[in-house]
Amino acid sequence: MKVDCAASHPIARLASDVLFRVGLSAGAKVLGLNSNRSKLPFCEPSRLLRTKVLVICAVLAAGAAGAQEPAGMSRAQVYRRVEALTALGRRMFVDPSLSASGKVSCASCHSSPDAFGAPNSLSVQLGGKDLQQSGIRAVPSLKYLQVTPQFTEHFFDSDDAADDSVDNGPTGGLTWDGRVDRGRDQARIPLLSAFEMANRDPAEFAARLRCTPYAGEFRPIFGDTVLADPEKTFEAALEALEVYQQSSAEFYPYSSKYDSYLAGKAELTAQERRGLSLFEDPAKGNCARCHVSARGKDGTPPQFTDYGLVAIGAPRNAAIPANQDPSFFDLGLCGPLRGDLRDRAEYCGRFKTPSLRNVATRRVFLHNGIFHTLRQVMDFYVQRDTNPEKSARCEWECAQIRRPARSLSGQCRR
Ligand code: HEC
Ligand code: HEC
Repeated sequence: MKVDCAASHPIARLASDVLFRVGLSAGAKVLGLNSNRSKLPFCEPSRLLRTKVLVICAVLAAGAAGAQEPAGMSRAQVYRRVEALTALGRRMFVDPSLSASGKVSCASCHSSPDAFGAPNSLSVQLGGKDLQQSGIRAVPSLKYLQVTPQFTEHFFDSDDAADDSVDNGPTGGLTWDGRVDRGRDQARIPLLSAFEMANRDPAEFAARLRCTPYAGEFRPIFGDTVLADPEKTFEAALEALEVYQQSSAEFYPYSSKYDSYLAGKAELTAQERRGLSLFEDPAKGNCARCHVSARGKDGTPPQFTDYGLVAIGAPRNAAIPANQDPSFFDLGLCGPLRGDLRDRAEYCGRFKTPSLRNVATRRVFLHNGIFHTLRQVMDFYVQRDTNPEKSARCEWECAQIRRPARSLSGQCRR
């Protein structure tokens, strides 16, 4: 598909050129950073290194992939670059003109008033060229992802109070199955997915981006030629989206009552205290085992997740169109969206433990959006253990039944 820029935004284009010139004279030379990722090992997401180094990492990582890499930048220059990328990322995030339908932006699914989760209670969202293509997973919140460790099959947790030689198994990565590590790699997925923003390829996306009123603002950051090369344009856009999602004020403010409570500035009500103790008690809820509620050893605030990929046995969701095919199963870590661990049966049915920060604002729960209230999630957790016969058969069990004998179809639907 050809995207006709001049026809849709003649004035915008002019404006962006003007902006570009202003930006250039204001110091394009100072933007960009002479460094590469391999020199920045501490910027790899790590459980050990949290909020303290994040700003520095965001700044340096932001500079690391710049197309234009003049030697040396002062700290102030690096901050300016990050600010500029953040502003660009923010504009792109809410811009539906970057999608094939012209109607879907990142914010259509990750709505900021909803903690960057779904703005509605659909289990899965519609997207694609005609807005009729259905996804297969619930929209996760984008808050508090900034210290997600890189995916690994063997995670050793230095914050583990008892023992840091324990292998916690598959942990980390972005998306429900941890299949990408960096924000920029993740952003490729929705931009190119046929059921999300549905750009055919990076070139089609780049053509759309060139039409935006802010396109020219990429030049002072990435160099004069950035918009001439679709691959470079795409990479630059991915970087801006990544940097935007690392802005603390919007994505990890740590502004909850619980944070104030930990800081000694707020008190929990009696009911909240009771809930917290059940949440933490290994003999009761035991929720904190995975949804960590205590500060890290180094004092960093709790993320309410240990990023582990585990199988809690979510029931199959008949509201997902893909599930009308009885042979279709979303088994998370072992596929089908993730391809590298398909032959690892022990990984089937595992999904990433989400943070429970802002969970009360969510209208869909678990990877397949099967539940719509927190109460339902609680009933599920409780009954799964006390009355397993009452809870619906989980997706993983269904897959096990189906594999040897497809004739059981129907039994696994709800
Ligand atoms: C049509 C809805 C939709 C759109 C549009 C969309 N997303 Fe998502 N997003 C999802 C779903 C669903 C998932 C979970 C995907 C999975 O697990 O495979 C997700 C996952 C993510 C994640 C990983 C979250 C985590 O917990 O690991 C990030 C980051 C993200 N999206 C950012 C973006 C950005 C940036 C854009 C725009 C370029 C965008 N999304 C557009 C629906 C959407
Ligand atoms: C063994 C680790 C583990 C334990 C223990 C655990 N959870 Fe979870 N929790 C997960 C995983 C993994 C998911 C996502 C599963 C999925 O989508 O299939 C999840 C999802 C959730 C969700 C849905 C969040 C969302 O955004 O969709 C809530 C709410 C939740 N858990 C609350 C609790 C509570 C309350 C407890 C204690 C009663 C608890 N969890 C115990 C691992 C755990």
